[in-house]
Amino acid sequence: MEIRNYQDHDLEACRELYVHMTEWHRTIYDAPAIGGDDPGKEFDKQLAKVGPERIWVAEQEGRIVGMIGLQPGYGESEIEVEPLVVLPEARGGGVGRAMVEHLIPIVREMGHRDLNVHVVGRNAEAIRFYHDVGFNVVGYVELMYDTSPPDKQIWRDGETIAGKRFRV
Ligand SMILES: CC(C)(COP(=O)(O)OP(=O)(O)OC[C@H]1O[C@@H](n2cnc3c(N)ncnc32)[C@H](O)[C@@H]1OP(=O)(O)O)[C@@H](O)C(=O)NCCC(=O)NCCS
Repeated sequence: MEIRNYQDHDLEACRELYVHMTEWHRTIYDAPAIGGDDPGKEFDKQLAKVGPERIWVAEQEGRIVGMIGLQPGYGESEIEVEPLVVLPEARGGGVGRAMVEHLIPIVREMGHRDLNVHVVGRNAEAIRFYHDVGFNVVGYVELMYDTSPPDKQIWRDGETIAGKRFRV
């Protein structure tokens, strides 16, 4: 497997990966509308925002099996992973780990101390993955107060943080 910078001819493969990432979020939230009508186009927005030098792909036997990107974090010392996705059929084979490990020296070279990631509360699989590959520091926790009527709320029981039970 080779991990290399994004090139123009990776566009369709990266759009496809974005669709898979959206499908995963649709599945965990049971919400088919997430990502809108054309989720692949969200990749184009990210590409325009960060530039091709902040996107990397994992290529295996001529096929793009994963993508990882970087975007600015909260402050100078931080930079954030966005997006990270592996083709469903290639998951569990070390592609995600290899892409994160590829970025660590790059992040150091860029002068950032911390590599962060925002994960939706219900994506426990991704949280386990990140923990296993070295994201074992809780930097921030984003809490939400859902102001909609209780019968319209989508959350289910989820995680314990600071000894309190939270919905996800
Ligand atoms: C999260 C994701 C990128 C992981 O990529 P991957 O290639 O499957 O992960 P790897 O095979 O490199 O796994 C690395 C480690 O994480 C752990 N891990 C991976 N997926 C896991 C899961 N679903 N549940 C628990 N642990 C998991 C593995 O145990 C593995 O540990 P090891 O290397 O010590 O054996 C991939 O599952 C994915 O694309 N998910 C959908 C999109 C998504 O949620 N992206 C993150 C958004 S913030």
